[in-house]
Amino acid sequence: MRQTVGVVGGCGHVGLPLAIALAPHHHVRIFDIDAKAVERVKRGEMPFRDAGATEGLRDALASGLVVSASPDVLRECETLIVVIGTPVDEHLNPSFAVFDRLLSQLYEVLHPGQTLVLRSTVYPGTSERVQDQLRRRGLDVHVAFCPERVAEGVALEEIRKLPQIVASFSPVGVAASRAVFEPLGIDLLELTPLEAELTKLFNNVFRYVTFAVANQFYMLSSEWNIDFHRILHAMKFKYPRAAHMPAPGFAAGPCLFKDTMQMSAFNNNQFFLGHSAMLVNEGLPQFVVNRMQRRWPDLKNKTVGLLGMAFKAESDDTRESLSYKLKKILSLTSAAVLTTDPYVVDPELLPEAEVLERANLFVIGAPHQRYRDLNYLGKPVVDVWNHRGKGSVI
Ligand SMILES: NC(=O)c1ccc[n+]([C@@H]2O[C@H](COP(=O)([O-])OP(=O)(O)OC[C@H]3O[C@@H](n4cnc5c(N)ncnc54)[C@H](O)[C@@H]3O)[C@@H](O)[C@H]2O)c1
Repeated sequence: MRQTVGVVGGCGHVGLPLAIALAPHHHVRIFDIDAKAVERVKRGEMPFRDAGATEGLRDALASGLVVSASPDVLRECETLIVVIGTPVDEHLNPSFAVFDRLLSQLYEVLHPGQTLVLRSTVYPGTSERVQDQLRRRGLDVHVAFCPERVAEGVALEEIRKLPQIVASFSPVGVAASRAVFEPLGIDLLELTPLEAELTKLFNNVFRYVTFAVANQFYMLSSEWNIDFHRILHAMKFKYPRAAHMPAPGFAAGPCLFKDTMQMSAFNNNQFFLGHSAMLVNEGLPQFVVNRMQRRWPDLKNKTVGLLGMAFKAESDDTRESLSYKLKKILSLTSAAVLTTDPYVVDPELLPEAEVLERANLFVIGAPHQRYRDLNYLGKPVVDVWNHRGKGSVI
């Protein structure tokens, strides 16, 4: 059944691909406080890279997608889906302020019988807290939690493929959430809201911890001047028990670190596995520079070219990118750091050709495709990812 669905935070990395995916099936209304992003989206411009999204946005606008910086656009909606950012605060603790602020914005447009679907990744118990706040205000609104589990950059593709977890405190909330996602033709899994909140966090923490295992093995092997990628190949070759072992590399970005810290806060900061993963993954940039100083004792006189400032390959997103941490450390230990990236907007970035010309050696931060077969003019390349397939020993 075609619903009128509001996407709150709908110009974001998760919200916009969701709005585009739902537009053929529902009357979709995007509300976002970022007026500039709203204007860009209205013009059919994607504010970030996501496979197939530019064409999808054009079609969604043609089929009546409404985009606004005013919450008034949400009044006729039967179901609202919240995909705002949920950062941890400076003490790495979850912040409820974003939801308190949001609810105070939404109270005037909420009406009895509506369903409010939280889709942002939240601190466990947040859905119940929001349900209680609405009840205390006498608002008969059904709160549901249906987490987003896509990977940035291929969100639109994955929304139409991945199973969707559906959870609510009421059968009405479950039914309304199912009605939103059913037309996508994906599997729907019902859980309780707390189970669903934990499932999402565990999915991300599991990924962050497995990256840390690979990075720790990489560090251990490097100390013996052994190329861990040769070992990794042998570990996985026709050996199903290691099939999911990731390769080492700078593991960061807007979600994995943050969600691991949310999990830790939920566990009274006794989440030793999460903290260890954070120490390993966040410690990799310093480890790499330490190895570089050992390899090039005169590193302080060298100009380093840092290639790829996004948090991952083929992305334009620099949120929590470890390339910027590398840049900071290298700026203290080398003569100069020159940075470049084909997708990122940053006034400090230089054209790739200039970096290739001026730098004495290179470090691959984000393994964008183009860096695989680039001509590095015979200069050394630090490649933790073994992106070039020429080994990763520093
Ligand atoms: N980025 C990912 O790959 C990804 C994947 C899965 C889950 N998530 C989760 O989804 C949530 C959103 O992440 P994102 O990467 O899309 O963030 P984002 O910053 O790209 O998007 C959030 C959007 O919400 C808007 N916004 C913030 N507060 C608002 C308010 N009060 N009212 C209306 N709009 C508001 C912002 O302007 C922004 O456009 C987070 O909880 C994140 O952990 C992200």
